[in-house]
Amino acid sequence: MAWKIEKAEFVTSAVEPKGYPPPDRPEVAFGGRSNVGKSSLINDLVGRKKLVKTSKRPGRTQTINFFNINDELYAVDLPGYGFAKVPDDVRDAWGPMIEGYLNHRPNLCAMVVVMDLRRGVEEDDFELIMAAPLFGIQPILVFTKADKFSRNKRQQRRRELARDIDADPGELLLYSSTRGFGRDDLWKRISYLCGV
Ligand code: GTP
Ligand code: MG
Repeated sequence: MAWKIEKAEFVTSAVEPKGYPPPDRPEVAFGGRSNVGKSSLINDLVGRKKLVKTSKRPGRTQTINFFNINDELYAVDLPGYGFAKVPDDVRDAWGPMIEGYLNHRPNLCAMVVVMDLRRGVEEDDFELIMAAPLFGIQPILVFTKADKFSRNKRQQRRRELARDIDADPGELLLYSSTRGFGRDDLWKRISYLCGV
């Protein structure tokens, strides 16, 4: 697909598999810590400022939200993890909700793990990165808020983080939703893994 976004629309919110839309097209999910910038990244990626609700208050996205892109792909905004102040029942629901999702989406072709370039790969992120292949899914590692660094500093940070997790620096994508860079590289990765 040439990534001209002609249609980007909300489809539905779900907490359980019975609420998911039919798995009739490839699907890419976006996971990461609460407040890291997942929803902003989806908006930037599809060039719509307000498709997905964003917030300064962490823990905003608490359900699994499905978006239809060009009738060819679903983009899925997953609720964030790792925010201490959400009520216990919300936090306890996260694991089963995500596991249920990973277990019930045969059309899922990629998991974008969104991280903050300043914070790097934290324990929960690493767990998600390691878990994805067990469900037959390739993780795509994206470090957002890269605009918080100078050009040189962010490349240096990328090499540092790659070394930490024993990956090739080229596997780590730098992103900024506010400044709008990293979009093409991420689309390339998604296209490659999802065949769209
Ligand atoms: P939850 O739904 O609560 O898990 O959060 P989220 O991961 O969806 O984060 P969201 O997109 O709502 O963004 C959180 C905050 O980070 C907002 O204040 C955004 O404006 C800000 N933000 C997101 N992306 C970027 C970025 O690339 N650069 C900068 N500087 N700020 C960003
Ligand atoms: Mg969100």
